Amino acid sequence: MTDRPVILVGCGRLGSSLVEGWLKTGGLDLRNLIIVTPSSKPVAETAREKGALINPGDEALARADRVILGVKPAMWRRVAADMDAKLAPDALIISMMAGVRASALSDGFKSRPVARVMPTTSMAVGEGVASIWAETDADLDKVRGLFGPVARVVGLADDGLMDAATAVSGSGQAYFFAFVDALTKAGVEQGLSPEQAEALASGTLVSAAAAMKQDGARAEDLIARVASPGGTTRAALDVFAKDGSLERLVSEAAAAAVARATELSGS
Ligand SMILES: NC(=O)c1ccc[n+]([C@@H]2O[C@H](COP(=O)([O-])OP(=O)(O)OC[C@H]3O[C@@H](n4cnc5c(N)ncnc54)[C@H](OP(=O)(O)O)[C@@H]3O)[C@@H](O)[C@H]2O)c1
Repeated sequence: MTDRPVILVGCGRLGSSLVEGWLKTGGLDLRNLIIVTPSSKPVAETAREKGALINPGDEALARADRVILGVKPAMWRRVAADMDAKLAPDALIISMMAGVRASALSDGFKSRPVARVMPTTSMAVGEGVASIWAETDADLDKVRGLFGPVARVVGLADDGLMDAATAVSGSGQAYFFAFVDALTKAGVEQGLSPEQAEALASGTLVSAAAAMKQDGARAEDLIARVASPGGTTRAALDVFAKDGSLERLVSEAAAAAVARATELSGS
């Protein structure tokens, strides 16, 4: 692999989680990391102790061959205007932003190669999931090399699928949190204290995630293992399945997320 540096622009919630993940897993030699951040961030300071450069001069920026964008979608054009002239002509622009199309990025960064990633913040503990897309296999490998150590990586054939991946994965974590919230409330209705219900609902999500982590685990098989015919789990699942209600609700939620990503990409 190359020893040219990688630049991370923006060290907010998502950018910090990526750096934390690299710190935890050793997935990137931090002497090859440059962080561009307007304000001081604790994780950037830790990375600096391991050799990363924070807001260095133009000469260091010009050496980088990969630039990861972790700023809000509303900010990236300003970043492109500020940084474009300082970057190497062959630098791969890797956007983690939701709803910003590859064609727009390519336009903003003077036709440099571009790639897109939609990761989750659990990269911080090496347990993220990331959809990735790039124009060439070689660039896809570069993206995989950066995110593979901290996330389960899923390659997409088409940039146009990134909104769908965002609806399932980037936004999807919050759907499970919403479910935990609803299950907590249901537990309280059934007589548990709020603390007991919360501990049981969130603990069950963690437990279910552990079961899913086993190689080859599929949701359908895991359900069959828990839900015996005529049992308590089956009684609850029958309510979810009544007239396809759960599937319909989730389908509408994902469609709403895709529609919003489409709106954002046009703005
Ligand atoms: N959070 C998630 O779970 C998640 C998941 C998938 C994708 N994303 C995408 O990730 C991007 C960042 O989201 P976030 O949640 O991490 O937002 P955030 O916490 O607001 O982080 C954005 C960071 O960008 C920095 N920034 C602003 N202007 C900058 C500039 N000119 N140069 C360098 N850095 C600059 C900000 O610095 P200051 O703190 O100093 O203002 C801030 O720390 C968004 O585009 C979002 O679509 C987020």
